[in-house]
Amino acid sequence: MRQLRKLDHLNYAMALDDGPTANGFADFSFVHNCLPDINLFDVDLTCSVLGLKMHHPIIINAITGGGHDVTAINAKLAEFARLTNSVMAVGSQFAALESPEVENSFKIINEVNPNGVFFANLGAHVTPKEAEKAVKMIGAKALQIHLNSAQELIMGEGDRDFSGYLDNILQIAAKVSVPVIVKEVGCGIAKEQAVKLFGSGIKAIDVGGCGGTNFLAIEAARNKIDLDTEILGWGIPTAVSAVEVLSVMSQNHELIVSGGLRTPLEVVKALAIGGSAVAIANPILRLVHKKGMEEATADFDQFLARVKLYMALLGVKTTKALQTVPIVITGKGHEWLAVRGIDITKFTQKRKHG
Ligand SMILES: Cc1cc2nc3c(=O)[nH]c(=O)nc-3n(C[C@H](O)[C@H](O)[C@H](O)COP(=O)(O)O)c2cc1C
Repeated sequence: MRQLRKLDHLNYAMALDDGPTANGFADFSFVHNCLPDINLFDVDLTCSVLGLKMHHPIIINAITGGGHDVTAINAKLAEFARLTNSVMAVGSQFAALESPEVENSFKIINEVNPNGVFFANLGAHVTPKEAEKAVKMIGAKALQIHLNSAQELIMGEGDRDFSGYLDNILQIAAKVSVPVIVKEVGCGIAKEQAVKLFGSGIKAIDVGGCGGTNFLAIEAARNKIDLDTEILGWGIPTAVSAVEVLSVMSQNHELIVSGGLRTPLEVVKALAIGGSAVAIANPILRLVHKKGMEEATADFDQFLARVKLYMALLGVKTTKALQTVPIVITGKGHEWLAVRGIDITKFTQKRKHG
């Protein structure tokens, strides 16, 4: 059942559109700098997350694994990660904890990319022992714990009981040997839950906001359920979710921005808001599925070149320095953050080095 579902998720994710709720980045604008005082060739995309050095700020977010049919996709994603020097998260490893015979659909990534940096992935209900097993399975440098209550509730065979997750995350974070990242899968994270999560011993939040891959739509299509746009639009747009999380984040924690990031400018905005890195899932899946590896990596290189161009236009050499440029927040994003009592003046003026 679980293995069949993986294949369905891949196919429906590639067939369906993003949204219907937008990712919110349209309300976030940069202010053109007519004196950038920079040489484009000095722009440096290297950065770090959880102390891990990254060649560029884009993480390949959790997609798949856990079935023989999806091993080939994981091999392709790992090859893409190797060629583009990307950090890669695997999809939920729970299937491999239940059925060790599908471990290879994850371990393939180590064969294809022996020096790669990988993140493990599991749901919030697992035991610390299971979490450590998933980490060891692929030699992961961090563990993603995903939160996906909306998807589970729509899924016919999904979970219905979400009690005790925070306490369980606390147990996992205390016992696993690598830093823990908590991520949503497309509904975002609000400041109230971010405070609790940061207090549970985790090191980073990946907001997994609304505006990209929509798991409610995927489950509705799989289960032949007719969902109205009211529920399909459920969630916090990625850009506002990122600011919500940031508003309660201390220096000891990190923010990863994901959920519907599709363009180089959105990536630059996400880093400027305060993300240590960004994460992208579905577009990379589509790229490696539909294009040959050479074309896929060339497209990705072009994407990164455009990220550099925007950084040059803003007059910043490093992704960290992006956090000093002003961002104007207007429209619904502005209204949302204002009524939530979140101070946005720190974004609109020239800021101190973050
Ligand atoms: C086919 C597919 C399978 C996914 N499986 C997982 C998973 O097992 N665990 C997880 O944390 N996220 C999973 N995700 C969610 C992504 O990691 C990401 O949070 C989400 O797709 C939003 O990012 P995007 O809009 O860039 O696709 C999956 C996404 C896709 C497209």
